[in-house]
Amino acid sequence: MSNQTQPIQLNQLIQTVQPSPTLAVTALAARLKSEGRDIVSFGAGQPDFDTPERIREAAKRAIDEGHTRYTNVGGMPELLEAIAADYNARGYDVTPANVAVSCGAKHTLYALNQVLIDPGDEVIIPAPYWVSYPSQAILAGGRPVFISGGLEQGFKITAEQLAAAITPKTKALVLNSPSNPTGAVYTREELEAIADVVLEHRIVVLYDAIYGKLVYGGAEATEFALLRDGLADLTITVDGLSKSHAMTGWRMGFMVGPVHVTKAVAKLQSQSTSNITAFVQTASIEAFNRPQPELPAMLEHFDRRRKLTVKLLRAIDGVTCLEPKGAFYVFPDFSAYIGRTGPDGPIADDVALATYLLNHHNVAIVPGSAFGAPGHARLSYATSDANIEKGCARIAEGLSALS
Ligand SMILES: Cc1ncc(COP(=O)(O)O)c(C=O)c1O
Repeated sequence: MSNQTQPIQLNQLIQTVQPSPTLAVTALAARLKSEGRDIVSFGAGQPDFDTPERIREAAKRAIDEGHTRYTNVGGMPELLEAIAADYNARGYDVTPANVAVSCGAKHTLYALNQVLIDPGDEVIIPAPYWVSYPSQAILAGGRPVFISGGLEQGFKITAEQLAAAITPKTKALVLNSPSNPTGAVYTREELEAIADVVLEHRIVVLYDAIYGKLVYGGAEATEFALLRDGLADLTITVDGLSKSHAMTGWRMGFMVGPVHVTKAVAKLQSQSTSNITAFVQTASIEAFNRPQPELPAMLEHFDRRRKLTVKLLRAIDGVTCLEPKGAFYVFPDFSAYIGRTGPDGPIADDVALATYLLNHHNVAIVPGSAFGAPGHARLSYATSDANIEKGCARIAEGLSALS
């Protein structure tokens, strides 16, 4: 087959969307590594721990016990029950009908955009944002509207900014706390103020709580849907096992929200993906029905690495780095180095900076422009202390070599 001509035309929509840049950087760093280069990668969007043994064992048992066939499209009843019980233990008042399971939280969010957004609807997305939010809104025919929560406001938007961005076309707000890429965690008070605006204007909130269990230094993850009476009718909480249980490859995500929305998502899945892998569902029940003894150790490692990464980055001249309170990312400001000159010419932007650091100093970071925050970069500290030390030293060396 010739690669020269392309008789098959792709549609307009897919041509407006870029591939996920975070996956691209991780893939490039992995390729260079496989070619024998000693790369330190801060690109990973996943814990560097193994899935807990009891969940791995449960999956193996599930296969042997015959959990290998189609299940209910939105999730097998026992799993939906386990998730509903877990949420009710946190103060929710939900039944299994309020839950739908998808192939990872990314797919949950995709499905939600598909069932909620009409062409021309506006979806408010605070920046810096997780890379997939704008593309998912666009793929549903919606229009992303960005509000800037800059470094000076702790990478968080205010209720006033939200109120000012709402128009008659606003359908939804996507909120992510703890945040990827910044690690920012909204306080209860900040979210209460946002909740009041949401209730006044009756917009939908997609509350992405995928990092809800990963908080440090006394920070608390807040259940947005529970903040005010009536808010649960407007909120869909998105969650999953990828980050909290080191299960990124299993593809298990879910939503908790109004029944007509979970039903619509199940209907969409019935015509697209069908159920997620049957034995992944059986094994996931294990994650909800039992305590998670691995979590404290995981949090201890992440907390130590968080402090180490912040300390090392702050020691670099001209770099500003807020202390993140959750997830496993830091989001330093490297803009003091934009405009300097490297061996390949001027460092025009954060993409050029990341490319320079990877090519000349063997360290992979993800450019901030991928997250709507040019001049910054995202570093994942889901890697060993030794890698963090080596990688930050390479960044410091690379930056100081710029003229
Ligand atoms: C903010 C955020 N939401 C959702 C996801 C999707 O996670 P998954 O599809 O693995 O459940 C990610 C993964 O990187 C994320 O960072």
